Amino acid sequence: MNYFEYRDGVLHAEDLPLSAIAEQVGTPVYVYSRATLERHAQVFKAALAHLPHAHIAFAIKANPNLAVLKVMQREGFGADVVSGGELARALLAGMPGEDIVFSGVGKMPREMVQGLDAGIGQFNIESEEEGVELAAIAAARGQRAACALRVNPDVDAGTHDKISTGKAENKFGVPYDRTGEIYARLARLEGLEMRGLAVHIGSQLQSLDPLETAFTKMGDLLGQLRAAGQSVTHMDLGGGLGVPYRAGEVFPTPEEYGAMVGRVTKDWDTRLMFEPGRVITGNAGVLLTEVIRVKRSSNGPPFVVVDAAMNDLARPAMYGAWHDFDAVQPNGSRMVANIVGPICETGDTFAMGRDIDALEAGDLAVFRTAGAYGATMASSYNSRGFVAEVMVDGDQFAVVADRILPAQITDAERVPEWLL
Ligand code: LLP
Repeated sequence: MNYFEYRDGVLHAEDLPLSAIAEQVGTPVYVYSRATLERHAQVFKAALAHLPHAHIAFAIKANPNLAVLKVMQREGFGADVVSGGELARALLAGMPGEDIVFSGVGKMPREMVQGLDAGIGQFNIESEEEGVELAAIAAARGQRAACALRVNPDVDAGTHDKISTGKAENKFGVPYDRTGEIYARLARLEGLEMRGLAVHIGSQLQSLDPLETAFTKMGDLLGQLRAAGQSVTHMDLGGGLGVPYRAGEVFPTPEEYGAMVGRVTKDWDTRLMFEPGRVITGNAGVLLTEVIRVKRSSNGPPFVVVDAAMNDLARPAMYGAWHDFDAVQPNGSRMVANIVGPICETGDTFAMGRDIDALEAGDLAVFRTAGAYGATMASSYNSRGFVAEVMVDGDQFAVVADRILPAQITDAERVPEWLL
């Protein structure tokens, strides 16, 4: 459910025609709908309301725009961060330190210090080595860092290999079979307060089954830790719920997810934590683009060349991901086309042989479901700068990230004197 719908033949974001945004801000531009963000946050919250003290930490990596984070903060969400940069954003958005969870396999000492300075609620430690380092840093400051130990449950999430995180060969978490031993060792360190376990097996999950398998394994570990005399008060179940990228696709709902979690965790007697990203912001954003030209091909469908490219929306090039592509003002005819950007490599292809609204030069169109892992994964490849971001609220909008022009990037570069 989202608020990008046709009214009088024109695609709107809430009450605003997308053509009005293109006219005022130019293209390409990411457009987010505040009402959709709020609705998704509220549906997710409601789905977990029956669980004791669920703490929801929005996975900032999905969409770190400050205005988006502000919506999350107003909905009472904390943040799951994976870098000092994301931590700073969460604080800028007004999220209290105690609502912030710091994940990631490569936390650097200065990032650990930044987390301790901010009084974050929890470090999700991904290795024994990291735990020992954090303990030393915290102890030297006379602090105890609250921690969960991330476990690699060796469960196949059934998603794209590049976004699967819970198989034994993936870099994340500690090996399932060594959890008890590592937890006990870390719990003895003066600088740490071990309070629980964390798990996240991957992203864009189409089925709840691998999650249920992983959570069940986590429940077994919880029992083992307690039997060994350890204290476990928090269990972090990560994110991962998938969203439809094609009209008509059906995915598990937050309600079904919440019911499954309730069933698996009913005897845990811990506080539960969640790190949703895509399910909150994915369908709350589109990438609005203009057709530069339609180029005939000698032996196949024409190329619809749009002004957005793989540097603006990397998912199709990186994961072969599908994004629905719709004209802002469809004229009723259809065409089969390859949709490509201007970048000089064949990977800059959004779709091949796709049945789409008929388009010609100057027409506007959107890539849907671009609100998660869209703008945040952009680069300036081919010296294209960075796309602007806009948030719509009813019939008004605000630019929530300025377009960064190529000249602003070259401004930050220097030719050393010895080359002049
Ligand atoms: N927690 C942790 C520890 C994570 O690594 C992630 C995502 C999440 C939570 C949020 O997962 P979500 O609810 O969004 O599935 N760039 C890829 C997705 C990478 C996901 C990385 N980790 C894509 O565009 O599909």
